[in-house]
Amino acid sequence: MLNIAVFASGRGSNLEALHRSLAARAVAARIVAVISNNSGSGALSFARANGIPALHLSRQRFDDDASFSAAVLDALHRHGAELVVLAGYMKKLDAPVVAAYRGRIINIHPALLPKYGGEGMYGMRVHEAVIAAGDRISGATVHLVDEEYDRGRILLQDIVTLAPGETPESLAAKVLNVEHRILPEVVTMFAEGSIGQ
Ligand code: GAR
Repeated sequence: MLNIAVFASGRGSNLEALHRSLAARAVAARIVAVISNNSGSGALSFARANGIPALHLSRQRFDDDASFSAAVLDALHRHGAELVVLAGYMKKLDAPVVAAYRGRIINIHPALLPKYGGEGMYGMRVHEAVIAAGDRISGATVHLVDEEYDRGRILLQDIVTLAPGETPESLAAKVLNVEHRILPEVVTMFAEGSIGQ
């Protein structure tokens, strides 16, 4: 059984999709903790409603980076996390956490990396930038996480095509559908041992 910790900052629809998909596919993986920087996040509410340990861990509540990283690592170890999934987590993981879980941290990004990634490129900003550039396709990317924003090895991508008159909101909805499919797919590959051995 692969133990997964999910980090999420907001609504938590990727967390929900992952939870649903693991149950439906009978994958040998389970979500052992949900961690959020945002105490009011939908992700934490979903975790509580589904009997998953829900942890609010915010840098603001710690004196320095080192004590915050230590608390994050302690939570991951306490819950036996083997794979870390960033599912709409709007913060960068600190270097000690990345180092401890190297090759076992994945992120879902709402664009076709390496385009539209990096610091400041998250959420609706990504879709606004794609439309402003006049691109005809976008999509979602699941990648390994390293010390840089959105730069680790790409594991899976899929595309959507932009319709005439596409808005950031309508594009976000299309891309989200892809996210909800490819994130569980990659987690399944980890659980089955086809990635990460
Ligand atoms: C998703 O579109 C995710 O790809 C994006 O935030 C949204 C979270 O939605 N993540 C980033 O932009 C991270 N760089 P959710 O809370 O409903 O899963």
